Amino acid sequence: MRLGALVFVLAAYVGSALGQVSYSIPEEMAKGSVVGNVALDLGVDVKRLLSGKARIYATRDGEEYIELSRERGVILVKERIDREGLCRQTTPCALHLQVILENPMEFYSITVEIRDVNDNAPAFEKAEMEFRISESAVPGAKFVLQRAVDRDVGINDLQSYALKPSDNFALKLYNKADGNKNVEMVLQKPLDREKEERLSLVLTAVDGGEPQMSGTMQIHITVLDANDNAPVFTQPEYKATITEGSPKGTIVATVKASDADQGYNSKVTYSITNTLDDVRDMFEVGEESGEVRVIGSIDYEKARRFQINLLASDNGGLTDSCKLIVDVEDVNDNKPDINIMSKTNVLSEDAEPYTAVTMIHIEDIDSGENGKVNCFINANIPFVIETSTDNFFTLVTDSDLDRERSSEYNISITCCDEGVPSLSSSVTLTLHISDVNDNAPVFERSSYEAYIVENNTPGLSIFTVKATDADWNQNARVSYILEDSSVNGVPVSSYVSVSADSGVIHAVRSFDYEHIKDFHLCVKAQDGGSPPLSSNVTVKIIIQDQNDNAPQVLYPVQTSSSVVAEMVPRSADVGYLVTKVVAVDVDSGQNAWLSYKLQKATDRALFEVGLQNGEIRTIRQVTDKDAVKQRLTVVVEDNGQPSRSATVNVNVAVADSFPEVLSEFTDFTHDKEYNDNLTFYLVLALAVVSFLFITCLVVIISVKIYRWRQSRILYHSSLPVIPYYPPRYSDTLGTGTLQHVYNYEVCRTTDSRKSDCKFGRAGSQNVLIMDPSCTGTMQRIQNEKNILDEPDSPVEVS
Ligand SMILES: *[C@@H]1O[C@H](CO)[C@@H](O)[C@H](O)[C@H]1NC(C)=O
Ligand SMILES: *[C@@H]1O[C@H](CO)[C@@H](O)[C@H](O)[C@H]1NC(C)=O
Repeated sequence: MRLGALVFVLAAYVGSALGQVSYSIPEEMAKGSVVGNVALDLGVDVKRLLSGKARIYATRDGEEYIELSRERGVILVKERIDREGLCRQTTPCALHLQVILENPMEFYSITVEIRDVNDNAPAFEKAEMEFRISESAVPGAKFVLQRAVDRDVGINDLQSYALKPSDNFALKLYNKADGNKNVEMVLQKPLDREKEERLSLVLTAVDGGEPQMSGTMQIHITVLDANDNAPVFTQPEYKATITEGSPKGTIVATVKASDADQGYNSKVTYSITNTLDDVRDMFEVGEESGEVRVIGSIDYEKARRFQINLLASDNGGLTDSCKLIVDVEDVNDNKPDINIMSKTNVLSEDAEPYTAVTMIHIEDIDSGENGKVNCFINANIPFVIETSTDNFFTLVTDSDLDRERSSEYNISITCCDEGVPSLSSSVTLTLHISDVNDNAPVFERSSYEAYIVENNTPGLSIFTVKATDADWNQNARVSYILEDSSVNGVPVSSYVSVSADSGVIHAVRSFDYEHIKDFHLCVKAQDGGSPPLSSNVTVKIIIQDQNDNAPQVLYPVQTSSSVVAEMVPRSADVGYLVTKVVAVDVDSGQNAWLSYKLQKATDRALFEVGLQNGEIRTIRQVTDKDAVKQRLTVVVEDNGQPSRSATVNVNVAVADSFPEVLSEFTDFTHDKEYNDNLTFYLVLALAVVSFLFITCLVVIISVKIYRWRQSRILYHSSLPVIPYYPPRYSDTLGTGTLQHVYNYEVCRTTDSRKSDCKFGRAGSQNVLIMDPSCTGTMQRIQNEKNILDEPDSPVEVS
């Protein structure tokens, strides 16, 4: 507007001043454009111009741009005029020209004002600008921007700036003293790198021309990070499970915190902040990785859940926290624990079925199936295990026990839990079965036969019976007792005695086969139980024959006095039976098997004796030359080992008539007188011995009666009676050592044929003491009184 007004004023001025004209043209007019009709305006005729050789004179470059057309009387644009090039920012911009005429020389001044045309846009020196601004920059911070330049002037010059987008920054223009305008960018709203790291703004400068022109500059802003963001965990609470016993280094979970900041400010480190519990002994967190690892031993039985408090911090000290809940999963890692609450070590074999033996309690600290426990015991034993509530088990018997079958049981109780794989533990109990006297002694055989050769020494052991008792110790301690019975009307105890301890049967007397060939006795075996059990067995004692009897000749009868002769007639033929020697042997068998032999004979050629039958026969014809008196000695021998024999003299008369015989045999009686004398001495000796015997008998009986009365008093006062012991047991020492004292009677004989007489029975008491500790050594102690009373050698009464 203002420029337009100026041109108008100038045009008015041109019209009014002579000799001097002014024109105003816009710059950039095309070449040849008419600037003004100077001829007309100066009032100079065209012819004058031609004649005056009018020409343009200009200082500076005026004549370059403007030329004069004399013919037309106008000035033309000779060259394109650029005001900016001509005048830069100077206003007004004018060319001062002189039109010079010759003939006469005169000149006119022409001023051509060049008017500005908006042909230049505002321009920035650089197309872009870079800024690095920290996001922590506070509002109000200023940033100087480059100015734009517009070469046009006036209204066409730079008029204003605009900044887009204007979210964070506003523009501020300062008019400086020199008139220039400084452009600043002022931070209005804080930057946030996390939201927008790079900003691109466009600064636009506009001029006031018509059309308006503008220039732009890119402003690039890099927002620098400031630590204005705390790390943030991706979840406020993490959950993880871990099986117990997981090895060290196992990753439980990975926590992650992100920090919106950048670079150094965004570097997050993790730590565990638990203080009171032992979490820090169990877990660690990777400082940078956020991996939570196991470093301790995880035991479900100690802790089933962990709460790990985690902290994430960035380098600026900003933090965030979260929780990691770790649930521990049970693993079957605990064996059942067997606790024996009470147990019986010894059980009687007569215990009732379902007697409780042991109570156990099982503990398995695992949970669920891993802690459920079942127990069982080894097979084939008479026990069962019963479950009651809450892992209590009772071991009971389930059938009858028998110590004799099995005296101890090793009961192994195995308890398994139901985990997979299952864990088990076991315990072995040893249960001893105590004995009850439920077994009687059993003899090895149902009956026995024992042999003894007659004429044995009294006290000889004949045989041993043995009974075993399946029970134990005292209940199995067998004593042998001779049962009362009688043999041929005599108590059997007068024949044999039985050693209570050993079962040895001793002969009490010397047996005579010829008197008794066998007898039975009954031995009872009794154990030491309470009450005692017993069984008995029959023993048949068979007495064996011994060749203790010589043959006895029955015929011919041997008398010393009488003369007996067998008559053999002289006419007797060969084989004539003279007589038969008849002999017997009271022994039996071979010992009684007799044979006959001719030992001596007057004429050995005349007689023979039948070996078996004892028949004496002639073996040749009797002749007249044979003596009348023939004397034969026949030996009768039994077949025993060694054999015994008897001899018999047989007188044979070889005669036809008795008187002949008598005369021959008178000398047979020559020893009659000697025999009479012998008889007398025998009778005398008998009388003396009888007197001595009767005297001794009286003395012994009186002493015996005295002793008997004394010992009865002693017996009743001092000997404790042990119940259930065989009658002949007595604990004489009172120390528990049993001395088995029993008596037997000795029949003292020298001759078995006369042995029925037991002499001095009342007075002689031999005591046989068995000391168990001396392994059956027999010691015969003779009662001191007996030593006094008893004659040293037996006395025979005939
Ligand atoms: C029980 O165990 C003990 C010791 O191992 C052994 O000596 C004994 O013979 C066993 N008893 C049975 C009946 O197996
Ligand atoms: C012993 O034997 C008799 C008969 O021989 C019998 O009656 C008795 O019962 C037996 N005694 C024992 C304890 O066996």
